[in-house]
Amino acid sequence: MKEYIIEGGLPLDGQVDVCAAKNSVLPLMAASILTDEIIVLHDCPDISDVDNMIKILEGLGSKIIKNGRDIVIDNSGVNNAQIPVSLAKELRSSIFLLGSLLSRLKQAKVAYPGGCDIGLRPIDIHIAGLRELGIDIQEQGGYIVCNSQNARCADVVLDLPSVGATENLMMSAVFVKGRTVIRNCAKEPEIYDLQRFLNAMGAKVKGAGSSVIVVEGTDRLHGTEYTPIPDRIVAGTYLISAAMCGGNVELVNVNPEHISSLISKLSKTTCKIYIKNDRILIKSRGRQKSLDCIETMYYPGFPTDLQSQIMAMQSVSKGTSVIVENIFETRFKTAGELKKLGADITIKGRVAIVRGVRELVGGEVLATDLRGGASLVLAGLVAKGQTIVKDIHHIDRGYEDMAKVLSSLGANIRRIE
Ligand code: EPZ
Repeated sequence: MKEYIIEGGLPLDGQVDVCAAKNSVLPLMAASILTDEIIVLHDCPDISDVDNMIKILEGLGSKIIKNGRDIVIDNSGVNNAQIPVSLAKELRSSIFLLGSLLSRLKQAKVAYPGGCDIGLRPIDIHIAGLRELGIDIQEQGGYIVCNSQNARCADVVLDLPSVGATENLMMSAVFVKGRTVIRNCAKEPEIYDLQRFLNAMGAKVKGAGSSVIVVEGTDRLHGTEYTPIPDRIVAGTYLISAAMCGGNVELVNVNPEHISSLISKLSKTTCKIYIKNDRILIKSRGRQKSLDCIETMYYPGFPTDLQSQIMAMQSVSKGTSVIVENIFETRFKTAGELKKLGADITIKGRVAIVRGVRELVGGEVLATDLRGGASLVLAGLVAKGQTIVKDIHHIDRGYEDMAKVLSSLGANIRRIE
């Protein structure tokens, strides 16, 4: 069982190089199926979600070479439209292979997706949107079986701005003759990144970042080289770790605009934040004052993927903080683990009331999902004594070895395989 062993109480000082965003690299890897020419993605993170996506693509017939942070994808041999249950369960992102497989092979068979244990994670909005495009979808024995022979352009309105559904529909529409309009779509930076990538391949997509995306169908797409946007959630996680531990930490290769909601919150504490181009320097001293209220919202609101981490920070702040999780119905599971370290948190449905304590006390805790696991590491960095975070394979899904990064900043943290 892999675990992190942390001796808390040390400040953090140094620099963190942030690499490309997991939640951009994964849809871009799915979109690479849209061409039989070579795709090269640069600056990719060495994380298990990317490794699993490589396995899924190889199962479809892709030839992939991972060379450091470069991923070279040759999809000329893609001929299988079925994603095995084993891999689909492992990776939520397998669901947006639907769109690219339907565009490339006109058919797809994908098992119901897996991913983090943070809520129901339905796919009804994906299915409804694809059906609007004339795609035939049958649900057979835990599989979604689709056929896009009769796909047609349409004006689709999403019931809610789902990131995955927006990405699936963008990829499903690229070869559909005519103009497809996607309304009430997600505005996350990763959506804009997918648009730029598709257009670099020769697609005609516009509007990403707004709530209306327009896709003009084209005949084929060509290969390209591309560097995805930096990981705003990894960047936010390490910003919060510095705010909690004290010290001076500089993030390099970030887009400050992508985490403006977090920067705005941290600026209300005694942290000092300096922004210069693609760098953010945070200086933190002493115990922070609690943030009154944090509500997770769709982009550009406060990201749900930083909710667990800010909860860890509020657990040791001075005062009481109210955290409202508006996106996923069960993304408070980590509160139970934080309470094992002495946090004072009361959960009422989608509301968490966090009364800051002067000090957490080290103990043994369990990572239950990717971002919840990261928040337990942050709590361990400030807890008195030793904290053991178990089941860290959840964390490996979205963070390159946190022990390596945090040790380079002066933390006392070891990874036990
Ligand atoms: C993406 O997940 C991200 N994952 C998530 O990051 C992120 O938390 C989420 O967007 C929200 O920003 C990737 O990009 C790989 P959604 P996704 O569809 O696409 C409901 C991380 O930690 N919904 O925008 O699955 C859903 O239940 C992960 O990196 C439906 O009801 O999220 C949720 O309440 C976790 N029906 C809300 O919409 C649907 O058909 C947002 O989900 C689809 C979604």
